[in-house]
Amino acid sequence: MIGVPHVERFVIRGGNKLHGEIKISGAKNAVLGIMPAAILADGPCRIENIPDISDVRMMIKILRHIGAEVETPEEGVVVIDGKNVNANENIPDKMTRKLRASYYLLGALLGRYGNASVSMPGGCYFGERPIDQHIKGFEALGATVSTESAVVVATADELMGSSVYMDVVSVGATINVMLAAVRAKGLTVIENAAREPHIVDLANFLNSMGADVRGAGTDVIKIRGTANMHGCTYSIIPDQIEAGTYMVAAAAVGGDVIIQDVIPKHLESITTKLEECGVTVIEGDESIRVVSNIERPNACRVKTRPHPGFPTDMQPQMAVLLTTCKGTSHVVESVWDNRFKYTQQLKRMGANIIVDGKTAIITGVDNLNGAPVEADDLRAGAAMVIAGMMAKGTTTVTNVNLIDRGYEKIVEKLSAVGVDIVREVFDEE
Ligand code: EPZ
Repeated sequence: MIGVPHVERFVIRGGNKLHGEIKISGAKNAVLGIMPAAILADGPCRIENIPDISDVRMMIKILRHIGAEVETPEEGVVVIDGKNVNANENIPDKMTRKLRASYYLLGALLGRYGNASVSMPGGCYFGERPIDQHIKGFEALGATVSTESAVVVATADELMGSSVYMDVVSVGATINVMLAAVRAKGLTVIENAAREPHIVDLANFLNSMGADVRGAGTDVIKIRGTANMHGCTYSIIPDQIEAGTYMVAAAAVGGDVIIQDVIPKHLESITTKLEECGVTVIEGDESIRVVSNIERPNACRVKTRPHPGFPTDMQPQMAVLLTTCKGTSHVVESVWDNRFKYTQQLKRMGANIIVDGKTAIITGVDNLNGAPVEADDLRAGAAMVIAGMMAKGTTTVTNVNLIDRGYEKIVEKLSAVGVDIVREVFDEE
């Protein structure tokens, strides 16, 4: 009908077991820190294994908005040259609301030009998402940071290396301080740093440009500032959370799936949990095979923690698997204040979940039933897809644009291993 918005949804018919191979794309949370970092170099950076997801397309828009030259010469590749960047260009609210990671431009612009202005970030809502630790780090390096009418402005005549102790383990703050520190004068020590694989990937990228970053992957990162950084060629690591999502999907519906292009070490906490549930996981050099013929998973206790603990970005997916567990499982969310909103959608499908503060108590049921549900956020949306694959009958998932933020070709990848899933455009009444 004219004027009625076209909306996309997934239609999933549950019950199919999975067989075949799924190839994992580059890591979203690595590439969103690495693309802004490219403007720190005095020449172009060629970055490969870029996932084709909407968050990357938004980051390209933001980089072009401040004057960076961004080419996409072939699939999975971007070439970024920051030589014409205008550090005085504000990154407006209409952009930062769509991509929380836009705030990495604060660290990159401050690090390169001593000046940055970025509207307060948006992103998935799991309760408060402050940036006090980012600001603490910038101020430790000698910057003046103010928040005028929801725009964060950071300036510094000269950034000086310093010690920064993070009051809370923060991926974003660790990345932002790394970006500001690589060209500061002297030594910066970040203590209580995040240890995620994407932190290590960023450090390796920065070092490829001539920076001196040591200790990434531990909770102490030491950065010796360098005056000049040059262009480089770099390939992004595989996406730990995309791989984990498909591991849990295979465990949930059964079958035998090989997930290709992964780093098994990044998946250890997920592998351990799936084995606890009774699933067989076989590690290859760059692949992981999930063999599942369990009717219902064993009940277990999951607690999310910063890496190398069980990732918070895998919490909704794991909770869905446990909706049909034998007995009662507990899922504790220790990173975010409010990341159980999606359980309301699961209850529509027959799940038995009681949320008590930071704990979801899941009593296993025989099966889920298909229903119309929506994606509350990126990972909750992926969890709804898994729920639809498990359920008896048909499930429709709306707000799939949120899923497309972080999962490249999810419909194609799942269809190729036997899932009955289609993407439909329909007129929203
Ligand atoms: C990153 O968000 C990821 N996003 C999130 O993934 C992920 O859930 C999170 O790290 C934790 O792993 C990207 O990388 C783009 P944090 P970030 O700073 O950096 C508190 C996904 O699905 N905190 O590590 O925003 C904060 O409130 C997304 O891909 C402060 O108190 O997360 C939270 O409780 C969703 N002050 C905790 O730290 C600060 O200054 C961890 O947040 C910063 C954070």
